[in-house]
Amino acid sequence: MPIAFEKVNYIYAPKTPFQYEALKCIDLAIELNKITAIIGPTGSGKSTLVQHLNALLVPTDGTVYILDRELSSNQKNKDLKSLRQRVGLVFQFPEYQLFEETILKDVMFGPLNFKMTEEDARQKSMTALTMVGLDESFYERSPLDISGGQKRRVAIAGILAINPDVLVLDEPTAGLDPQGAKSMMELFVELNRKYKKTILIVTHDMDHVLNYCDNVVVMKKGEVITHQQVNDFFFKGDTVKEIEMALPQRLRVVESLREKGFKLDSKISNLKDLANAIKKEISHE
Ligand SMILES: Nc1ncnc2c1ncn2[C@@H]1O[C@H](COP(=O)(O)OP(=O)(O)OP(=O)(O)O)[C@@H](O)[C@H]1O
Ligand SMILES: [Mg+2]
Repeated sequence: MPIAFEKVNYIYAPKTPFQYEALKCIDLAIELNKITAIIGPTGSGKSTLVQHLNALLVPTDGTVYILDRELSSNQKNKDLKSLRQRVGLVFQFPEYQLFEETILKDVMFGPLNFKMTEEDARQKSMTALTMVGLDESFYERSPLDISGGQKRRVAIAGILAINPDVLVLDEPTAGLDPQGAKSMMELFVELNRKYKKTILIVTHDMDHVLNYCDNVVVMKKGEVITHQQVNDFFFKGDTVKEIEMALPQRLRVVESLREKGFKLDSKISNLKDLANAIKKEISHE
């Protein structure tokens, strides 16, 4: 079963002076087994959108279809636990949710909550910690005494240990150093390619969209303004220019070189091709 939004509106604090329509008539189908990026300016509704995927928020109007579930305001959305086991959501700033005495206990909290045995939960948690690059020297440390990036990894391990089919990550690399962000994105690609996880990533990093994602959803003021394959988005048509977001670095380099008179194909998408094209241009001079 697909993941889809059908005419979804979401209003925060309805019927109060603070009422705010954060999602407006969203129609969107997310491909399974792909990595989909969700981008858009701050306040455009990205976090609100993804919190619908495991029913943390339920549409004010419209319906969300997720795997074999249907979520809407006019039905009883019960047994959300089974949904939350299949759709893992890692919040923006997940490090604020760490609370156990030790890192291993913190990661085990989810699996135990979903009724895994202690031994199974321990095994799954150790595997998840290895996946996010934290070895056993971290197991007994307090989750409060590690760096921000490491806390982020612990929080992600907590979700991986539950082994969800769909992994939703709200700005997972924000604030990480470039190498840490890269290895995090590579982990998501591995989870997608090797373990067939469907992955949704909210991000502000256009390089990550270009380098690691299959599809991209662009939001603006509570609406989805485009949803395309990443290559089409960057290299076909003009949508990418119209959305007023910074281009990925590689494409900015190509643009600058073209402005300086280099005859380069604006569709060059990887570094090796770019290096070869520059070499060819220079050797013609
Ligand atoms: N709990 C809330 N109560 C009222 N309004 C809210 C609440 N949470 C978010 N909003 C409003 O809804 C809109 C969408 O917020 P959302 O957090 O989904 O944006 P976002 O695209 O994730 O932004 P960012 O890139 O800053 O994380 C914003 O204008 C925000 O002020
Ligand atoms: Mg957000």
